[in-house]
Amino acid sequence: MAREFTRVGVVGLGTMGAGIVEVFARNGVDVTAVEISDGALERGRATLTGSTDRAVAKGKLAEAERDALLARVDFRVGLDALHDVDLVIEAVPEHLDLKQRIFAELDRVCKPEAILATNTSSLSVTEISVATTRPNQVIGIHFFNPAPVMKLVEVVRTVVTSADVVADVEALCERLGKVDVTISDRAGFIANALLFGYLNHAVGMFEARYATREDIDAAMKLGCGLPMGPLALMDLIGLDTAYEILDTMYRRGGRDRRHAPAPLLKQMVTAGLLGRKSGRGFYTYERPGSPKVVPDEYTPLAVDAALADGARAIAKVGVVGSGTMATGIIEVFAKAGYEVVSVTRGAEKSAKVCEAVKTSLNKGVVRGKLSETDRDAALGRITWSATLEHLADVDLVVEAVIEELSVKKALFASLDEICKPGVVLATTTSSLPVIDVAMATQRPADVVGLHFFNPAPIMPLVEIVQTIRTSAETSATARAVCAKLGKTGVVCGDRSGFIVNALLFPYLNDAVKMLEASYSTADDIDYAMKLGCGYPMGPFELLDVVGLDVSLAIQRELYLELREPGFAPAPLLEHLVTAGYLGRKSGRGFRDHTRR
Ligand SMILES: NC(=O)c1ccc[n+]([C@@H]2O[C@H](COP(=O)([O-])OP(=O)(O)OC[C@H]3O[C@@H](n4cnc5c(N)ncnc54)[C@H](O)[C@@H]3O)[C@@H](O)[C@H]2O)c1
Repeated sequence: MAREFTRVGVVGLGTMGAGIVEVFARNGVDVTAVEISDGALERGRATLTGSTDRAVAKGKLAEAERDALLARVDFRVGLDALHDVDLVIEAVPEHLDLKQRIFAELDRVCKPEAILATNTSSLSVTEISVATTRPNQVIGIHFFNPAPVMKLVEVVRTVVTSADVVADVEALCERLGKVDVTISDRAGFIANALLFGYLNHAVGMFEARYATREDIDAAMKLGCGLPMGPLALMDLIGLDTAYEILDTMYRRGGRDRRHAPAPLLKQMVTAGLLGRKSGRGFYTYERPGSPKVVPDEYTPLAVDAALADGARAIAKVGVVGSGTMATGIIEVFAKAGYEVVSVTRGAEKSAKVCEAVKTSLNKGVVRGKLSETDRDAALGRITWSATLEHLADVDLVVEAVIEELSVKKALFASLDEICKPGVVLATTTSSLPVIDVAMATQRPADVVGLHFFNPAPIMPLVEIVQTIRTSAETSATARAVCAKLGKTGVVCGDRSGFIVNALLFPYLNDAVKMLEASYSTADDIDYAMKLGCGYPMGPFELLDVVGLDVSLAIQRELYLELREPGFAPAPLLEHLVTAGYLGRKSGRGFRDHTRR
């Protein structure tokens, strides 16, 4: 017989606690909600009523349901109010000594059979449990932010947690409409262990002025389909909480430098910039607790204003290459009204590219996204050629040939001879240093990276890669072109992986290492990232789509350039590639795709 949970207690009504109260009360469970002072209690109550009022306004909750929900919550100051609850969830700040003190007190106050749970993100549940006389009834129930929305709960069992306690908590999660993954007590569990290295890396990029906060966030949203960018997510989590989580993960998780909190974080926390909850973090919010970002002194000018900064006029564009990227890029430019000269290595290749562009435009017509007239006009703007000399009068060249430095350098040297002065020369390389390509010409100031994503006609992001020699005019031109293409151009420095790959692939590699260490299964890790963090795909799904060989190559580049020990490719990834398990394209990667 599963245990009945008729009344639960929640301790600490901050970012997480208030949301956890809502989850229980929404599902018909009575809650005793406890804070440390009257002021904190009122803030917690205001968070709950604010959230439920918003749900009513959005038509997601009836007024009567909201009233019933609120009536289920008994707000109290002090832990003594928890004497009759069946389960307590603690959600106080991420400090071990504080949590241990609270658990010792809960052990004294609560019924002997009550389960004591912590919502800690990174601390040892085992160390918290030994502060009580009932460590077998102590468990981690890790909700995700915002708790009423995110489906995932990580259930953390220590070596002494009773099996029936685990089973009862799993059943409770189901009753709350959550999906649980049950795991053992390791720093960061699944999701945070994979998330926080990435978040900290993004903060480091911002701190090093590698890219702006808006561009880092836009890159990850638009390049990977994430629900929010890493810096906006840090603000949501709370920078003080994030600092503590990183600090604990660094100490507990093998002193991985990637978890050593970026110095900027400590400064921001000390200065009271805690994120949304204090009204200011990486961004500025309308008021404390508000999700609404308001402009501040760092808000960039709109692209239009930036154009006043001397972008060159671009009417005619050359695209060199005949692969997937070149084909997509030709279509993108032609559709946006540019005259396009496509140059391939021969008439046969040109015919194939032309066919592919036509097929793709026709699909647009069939789907009602493009009129026949616009399709014909776009096709009419493209000329097909097999000689680079035809690029003599273009204003911009986009190179999308094979990813080999010698080939790209030779091509840029030729373009330097052929093209008129003032042309912008762009490379779509995703992994080579743009400066190497630029220095193959006599005009490095005119060379820039334009890293399109695949499929180019669909993906809204372009990384604009500035080398140390790219001129402001070239950069402004690249931004203006991206805007005219209807793409979001994010500007970054010339470092391996630019923004997106540098932030994405180490995370994927970490997921492989987690699997390799048998901490969890590919399915549970995929669930954790999708349901806990709102990712469109789990890491193993994504690796199989991208290709394990491609992922390994990118990870190797990152490791070679940045020499970060934590970026060393996971041995399991190398073995799978050696074994020919490359993902969907070979029928098998982390999963078998032949049996569907
Ligand atoms: N923020 C997140 O995104 C997130 C996500 C999952 C888990 N967590 C974990 O949840 C826990 C709480 O984090 P948070 O972000 O909600 O912190 P928070 O700072 O927003 O809230 C903590 C609350 O605890 C209260 N408190 C402090 N001492 C107390 C005491 N002795 N008795 C009762 N209440 C007390 C504070 O007044 C505050 O309201 C941490 O362990 C954190 O790691 C956080």
